[in-house]
Amino acid sequence: MTENTSPVLVEFDGGIAFVTLNRPEKRNAMNPALNARMLAVLDELEGDERCGVLVLRGAGQSWSAGMDLKEYFRDNDDKPRDATLKARRQSGGWWGRLMYFEKPTIAMVNGWCFGGAFTPLVSCDLAIAAEEANFGLSEINWGILPGGNVTRAVAEVMRHRDALYYIMTGELFGGRKAAEMGLVNEAVPLAELEARVRKICASLLEKNPVTLKAAKDTYKRVRNLPWDLADDYIYAKLEQMLFLDKTKGRDEGLKQFLDDKTYQPGLGAYKR
Ligand code: ACO
Repeated sequence: MTENTSPVLVEFDGGIAFVTLNRPEKRNAMNPALNARMLAVLDELEGDERCGVLVLRGAGQSWSAGMDLKEYFRDNDDKPRDATLKARRQSGGWWGRLMYFEKPTIAMVNGWCFGGAFTPLVSCDLAIAAEEANFGLSEINWGILPGGNVTRAVAEVMRHRDALYYIMTGELFGGRKAAEMGLVNEAVPLAELEARVRKICASLLEKNPVTLKAAKDTYKRVRNLPWDLADDYIYAKLEQMLFLDKTKGRDEGLKQFLDDKTYQPGLGAYKR
């Protein structure tokens, strides 16, 4: 899984799984091989205890230059339609898995981020960019609209005017602008990017993983529900979470605050 020729590299470090899109010579454009491998990697990491947080990054100077315009698009143009449908399933498959991945996910945007790459970017729970990174909805520049749910992804996190502006102009924008528009949480100088991401990982790794999964999924699922359904879903999820948490974290959290007085929930997490 970690040989350098693989389109995806996985390295573990202190509870973090660094997943690297690894086609630097093609600016990490997503071809069918990369998409198939990413789907398998997510399956492998789901139950891997070495992965407490997944960080998605790109090799070299790119996060991802979007879909591989040759292998994903042109090479399929002359094939029967099922080839295109298969390619779509492969890419959409891992992006969808990423959206509701078992562990917290952080996009660490180290460089170029174009087109199709916006969907995995938004699918990650959090995104931290280098100020030096450049983003672009470049589909318009070569004659298509943002497919692969890119249009839906930008509607999720960007403001209406900003989304339309960049969908229609294809202009580049930098990391700070991406943060200002809500596409990423924050932008930091490239030299500080990994340290910042590791700091967020450390905070997440202190938390109860069952609670984290329930909390992030609940947020993503309820935002488009009417209030009464949302209320019901939230309590259903909360009670499911209590059932799934064999460590009984809620009881322990209450005990450490109310009885042991060893921490204050307003200021940090209980000791697991
Ligand atoms: N698909 C296929 N090949 C790509 C892609 C891509 N998306 N992006 C880069 N490459 C290839 C280039 O063809 C080139 O291959 P070659 O060495 O065999 O000629 C190699 O990667 C390096 O690319 P350069 O353009 O030479 O690299 P540079 O660093 O100068 O520029 C940049 C980087 C700006 C990312 C440029 O490559 C580019 O504009 N790529 C396309 C970005 C894009 O619009 N992607 C599609 C978005 S729409 C969608 O995803 C549906």
